[in-house]
Amino acid sequence: MSGRRITKGGFANWVSRLFERLVMKRTLDHAYLIMGGHIFFQTLSAAVQLDLFTLLARRGRMTRHDMAEALKVAEKPIRILMLGCTALKLVRKHSDGTYSNSFLASRLLNADCPRNVLSIVKWQHFINYRAMFHFHEAIRANANVGLAEISGTGATLYEHLSAHPDLERVFQDAMQSISVQANDLLARSVDFTQFHNLLDVGGGNGTNIMNLARHNPHLKAGVFDWPSVCAIAEQNIAKNDLADRLRAVRGNCFVDPFPRDVDCILFAHFLTIWSEEKDRALLKKAYEALPPGGAAIVFNVMQRDDESGPLSAAWGSPYFLTLATGEGMLYTWAEYRTWMQEAGFKTVLTTPLVRDHGIIIGVKGDIS
Ligand SMILES: C[S@@+](CC[C@H](N)C(=O)[O-])C[C@H]1O[C@@H](n2cnc3c(N)ncnc32)[C@H](O)[C@@H]1O
Repeated sequence: MSGRRITKGGFANWVSRLFERLVMKRTLDHAYLIMGGHIFFQTLSAAVQLDLFTLLARRGRMTRHDMAEALKVAEKPIRILMLGCTALKLVRKHSDGTYSNSFLASRLLNADCPRNVLSIVKWQHFINYRAMFHFHEAIRANANVGLAEISGTGATLYEHLSAHPDLERVFQDAMQSISVQANDLLARSVDFTQFHNLLDVGGGNGTNIMNLARHNPHLKAGVFDWPSVCAIAEQNIAKNDLADRLRAVRGNCFVDPFPRDVDCILFAHFLTIWSEEKDRALLKKAYEALPPGGAAIVFNVMQRDDESGPLSAAWGSPYFLTLATGEGMLYTWAEYRTWMQEAGFKTVLTTPLVRDHGIIIGVKGDIS
């Protein structure tokens, strides 16, 4: 029997097939990406833990057999992994059966590339992944229910991490990677010549202040963070020979006073962690600690004022609710601007940056 006889024709069928091909196929592919988020993330994470993309970058095109041998695993699982990596466009499969990195993998997933995001993938895998299973419960409870996945005391992920030095390192490495991606923009976009002593609240392992110090030889700066994190920052500062200008101040920003000798207070990737009330209180506390002419700077991914994205804001916000604190999110430009004004800052300047980061600067008094 010929194919022509068993295939139904007719205009209605033609329209329906066209609709399936043009509209539904694309819709279903989009749905697969969302429904398979956990599987596709684990595809990425497994390849990252095997350091597959660095291997491909160093060795050039490889067959599955070569990969299996180099990674000391069986070929069948590599076949499954490569199917996922190819469909996700992390690698390209060539007609001779070899694979090579896509542009994304060669730039972002190759350990030899300075702007790689490998530590961010590991943070998602080792710290956030299990916790995110509880997103639905977190919505119902309006609390970080996912924190139960990581043992420890205290109400926030940061406190729990201090009981797990291995996880704290994973976390700080990821924060450093985010900072490295972003903090150059901060250093290049803000004129720090008018400031002498900067405080980086929740400054983590010191990556931000070290970069700012390199760009601004006159500037003194310090991180203000938990004691266990300050210890890491101090090691990094010493390793980079910057101890004459940089310091780590141990404290809880909600309890301990900010040092009074600073004229610029930076909140980098920090106000996203907390509730609106706490952010308002922190900006007010910063305003009161600053001398006239001093400034507070908010630096993080900003949510669009129409609340339609960007993806990075939609990616980060559930983490703050479900795991980090149960109260933060990536707020809009307008919210930060309003809170700055309420805190007393007379001049509030906003600077959108490339990609999704933004800077909001509140100056105490008039700009000189
Ligand atoms: C999301 S990380 C941001 C790190 C860094 N600012 C950056 O831009 O990469 C948040 C930091 O805030 C610190 N932190 C959390 N709660 C804090 C508190 N109550 N007082 C001071 N630091 C805190 C954490 O230890 C962590 O280093």
